[in-house]
Amino acid sequence: MRNLINEYHQKSRNLEPNDEQRKTLREAVVRYTENFLNSVNNPEESPAYQAKDHGQGLMQYAITNEGYNPDEVFQIISEHVDNGGINAASGGHLGYIPGGGIYSASLGDYWADITNRYSGVFFASPGAVRMENHLINWMKEMVGYPASALGNLASGGSIANLIAIVAARDAAGINAADIPQQVIYLSEQAHHCIHKAINIAGLRECQLRYISLDSQYRMDTGKLRQAIIEDIRQGLKPWLLIGSAGTTDTGAVDPFEDMADIAEEYQLWFHIDAAYGGFFMLTEYGSNKFKGIERSHSIIIDPHKGLFLPHGLGVALVRDGVQLQKSFAYHANYMQDATALANEISPADISPELTRPFRGLRMWLPLMVHGLAPFRAALEEKLLLAKYAWQELRKFENIELGPEPELSVVIFRFLPENGNANQFNERIIGKIHEDSRVFISSTTIKGVFTLRLAILAFRAHLDTIDLALQIIKEKMEETKNEAVRD
Ligand SMILES: Cc1ncc(COP(=O)(O)O)c(C=O)c1O
Repeated sequence: MRNLINEYHQKSRNLEPNDEQRKTLREAVVRYTENFLNSVNNPEESPAYQAKDHGQGLMQYAITNEGYNPDEVFQIISEHVDNGGINAASGGHLGYIPGGGIYSASLGDYWADITNRYSGVFFASPGAVRMENHLINWMKEMVGYPASALGNLASGGSIANLIAIVAARDAAGINAADIPQQVIYLSEQAHHCIHKAINIAGLRECQLRYISLDSQYRMDTGKLRQAIIEDIRQGLKPWLLIGSAGTTDTGAVDPFEDMADIAEEYQLWFHIDAAYGGFFMLTEYGSNKFKGIERSHSIIIDPHKGLFLPHGLGVALVRDGVQLQKSFAYHANYMQDATALANEISPADISPELTRPFRGLRMWLPLMVHGLAPFRAALEEKLLLAKYAWQELRKFENIELGPEPELSVVIFRFLPENGNANQFNERIIGKIHEDSRVFISSTTIKGVFTLRLAILAFRAHLDTIDLALQIIKEKMEETKNEAVRD
């Protein structure tokens, strides 16, 4: 048996490359990523979007017993992965809500993956868990939550919303039989992951009330109050109120003070989705704009958006932290050693996950090495860029422009002299996508096909926005001339 074990050990040796082999692999990755970084700011060399179906070529490379030569492997990634679709690392990514990808965070991930600290349970890595709780405490302070709040670094905003909604459900003691009487108040502008979370949490049969919006796409709290009064009159149970600190479509910020007053009066759980807008609280403008956010019961906020980290980090914060523990803390016999050392809250006790990546390092490392100042400056820059884009777009002909941006999303569309405006704008965005140097996305608001510029990529600067405006203008003119010819 010993011989056989040694034989298998020899055969599995490639899983532990020696320092020479590690160097070769590492240098190949670094060569590739350095080339990527050196061209990412050039929209000609590194387009923001390539409108082609790609990746099929990958399928010809079967997973084999022997594997492939590393050079060939990097060539495959370059040709079949990094060569189409949205280039999320590009500053020209002005669609949806752009993510980040700052370099120092990637080194945090590298470090975390090499050391593979088990960050789910305090016993297994007190330092890793303390680091994450330290980050949570910092975000609690930023939003104005008390020390008794708790939070979790989840994989993104969708899972963070799920965590908060489950905590809200359990805090209200909602059982299956109660669900059809429970009412959730939200707006049409709530992100679709909220609906997913409601469904996953078994709350599909709750009553959903979509409260109308004011001219700035914010929840109309007069209408909210009316809806609650009507529901109570009908014997229903108002339970959950969901607001947004930056909606995806328009970047609107709901009136939190008014909503908090209503939530207090009718004893609703007040949840705020700050996935996109949350980190604007690091700016003076944002912290004033979000007044009242501290009166919510739960908030979610995405460092992979407003803190410019690579995809994979969304945070749930719950003001009364005990509620998170009530929903997610479980005991198992095989975990009994882990409870011996439990001086800090473990992520496993306040989230659905047990084994998870050590997410803290990708956030802590950039904050430690850069300090807050450059993050603040980048956020200020994005707010100003959105204002600038809005002011410049106002000079365009045939434009119907949305409200002055509250955060960093600008909505607009063009009105053709004749014909269908939705089709006209669809054609414009098709041309922008074909051009490829910048990427913008569209949405439909009340049946109206709307174009939007979402400015949050940390590599989006003044030259990016000037280029985007120039391309938008060109493509609008082209579409207009084609319409005249047709
Ligand atoms: C307002 C808002 N909430 C939630 C989400 C979902 O977050 P994630 O994509 O990180 O799951 C998004 C994503 O863009 C968003 O804009």
